[in-house]
Parts: sequence; C-alpha cells; structure tokens
Amino acid sequence: MTTTIQETVPSAQQAIDRKTVVQKLLSQLGGGTYLEIGVELGQSLLPIEASQKHGVDPNPIVPVRHRIRMLMQNMFSRNKVHLHQMTSDDFFARRNSILGDSKIDVALVDGLHTFEQAYNDVLNCLQVLSPRGVIIMHDCNPPSARIALRARSHSEALKEFPADGDLRWCGDVWKAIVLLRSFHTDLQTFVLDTDFGLGIVSRGAATSKLSYSREEIEAMSYEFLAARRTTLLDLRPATSFNEFLASR
Ligand SMILES: C[S@@+](CC[C@H](N)C(=O)[O-])C[C@H]1O[C@@H](n2cnc3c(N)ncnc32)[C@H](O)[C@@H]1O
Repeated sequence: MTTTIQETVPSAQQAIDRKTVVQKLLSQLGGGTYLEIGVELGQSLLPIEASQKHGVDPNPIVPVRHRIRMLMQNMFSRNKVHLHQMTSDDFFARRNSILGDSKIDVALVDGLHTFEQAYNDVLNCLQVLSPRGVIIMHDCNPPSARIALRARSHSEALKEFPADGDLRWCGDVWKAIVLLRSFHTDLQTFVLDTDFGLGIVSRGAATSKLSYSREEIEAMSYEFLAARRTTLLDLRPATSFNEFLASR
C-alpha cells in the first residue's frame, strides 16, 4: 500500500522499483510466468509483461476497465493474465489444479503484511518456483517505527496513525527476511535499498547467515532493526541489482 505516496520518499530510495526489478528478471527469461501475491489496484500486475501472469488477492480492487482489458487480452493474445480472488494460502492449497505443471519464474510477495504470512508466502512460492526463479518481497526496509507498525491490514494500521495524510505502511515484513537469513542457508536472501526495501530471494548457498531463534525474531523491535539494518537485512544499494542480474 506504499504505491501512492512514493513522492514523499527521498529520491535515492526510488532508484529502481519493484516493477522494474520484476520486468528485468522476466525479460532476461524472454517472457516467463509471473505470480503476484497481493494485487490491490493492479498497479504492478497490469503493466508487467510476461507469457503468463497470475495475481492473487482476496479483495482485489482492479478497476472494471482493466478487468475488461484483461478479458480481451486472454481472448486475443498469447500472453494470459489470471486474477485469483482468494488468499495466498488458498491459492497455494489449490496450486496443482490452478498451475498444473507450469512453474513460476518471478514472484512478487506483497499480500498480507505480517512477517509470518510473508514468510509462509515465500516458502509456498518456493514449491512452485522454477530452478532459476526469483522471489521479490516488497516493503522489507521500513524507514520508521510508524511505517513498521504491526497490523493485519493497511486500514487497521491507519487507525493507529495520526490523521496527517501520511499513508505509508510496510508492517513487519522485514522480520521475514531475518527468518530467511537465520533458517535457510540454501537460499540467497538480501534486500535492495529502494522502494521501501525489495527482498530478493533465490536458490543457492547463502553468502552470509544470521543465528537468531524464531522467538528472538518475534521479539525484535523496530529500534533493533534501525540500529543494524544493513546486517539484519543484508541491505545493498539499489545499483547492486545489476550485478545480481548479470550473475544469473
Ligand atoms: C500493498 S497491496 C498490493 C500492491 C500491489 N502488489 C502493487 O504493487 O501495486 C496488498 C494487497 O494484499 C492483499 N491481501 C491481503 N491479505 C492477503 C492474503 N492473505 N493473500 C493475498 N493477498 C492479500 C490486500 O487485499 C491488498 O490488496
């Protein structure tokens, strides 16, 4: 839900956004299959170009004119787009009947913004990810305690905020990065310092590891993150995405 207010973020943080990262990865594959968990208005799902796109959201608010465009695309183009109105957990429970044998090349995890759900979404994405596939996680580097507020939805978070027009909210998704870096040495996980923190998860031996227990991670505060975000997130400059892309 950070898409509408990016102009308030320092320009250096917008060097590259999630759509560009997703599109560059897909283009490298010459098309590919894209999965987006959390679609909302379709601001990322709709412009992304891929052979197959799957969007998952229990309450998508994709405008009617775009839904009509999607129907037309499915009738007349080889590139198909599917909107699944359900939670990510339901989608993955039905993944065999929905996806069949097809694998996901690039996934964007941007649904329910609690760390437990973001973490589960990543683990479930791995079940359907192609061998060289990449998972992108949005909102992994909240710039303030307020933006990192733990809540089950954007509207729930807004009830806690003063009515000052600042709608930015990431939740505690950052803790999913700490979990991945603590428990999954078979995954390369780091965060690009752009677009509120883009987590990049791919298969391969982790280059560095954390050693926190799940209980320690659950108890971590925003202040704990703020004091050591480079170490906790393996936070890298946005420009390092080019190195990652070249290495694939
Ligand atoms: C931040 S918005 C997504 C923005 C979109 N990815 C973009 O880039 O423009 C989060 C969306 O996640 C959806 N959501 C909430 N719980 C979900 C769940 N359990 N599974 C999938 N999506 C969920 C919400 O309905 C909301 O539309």
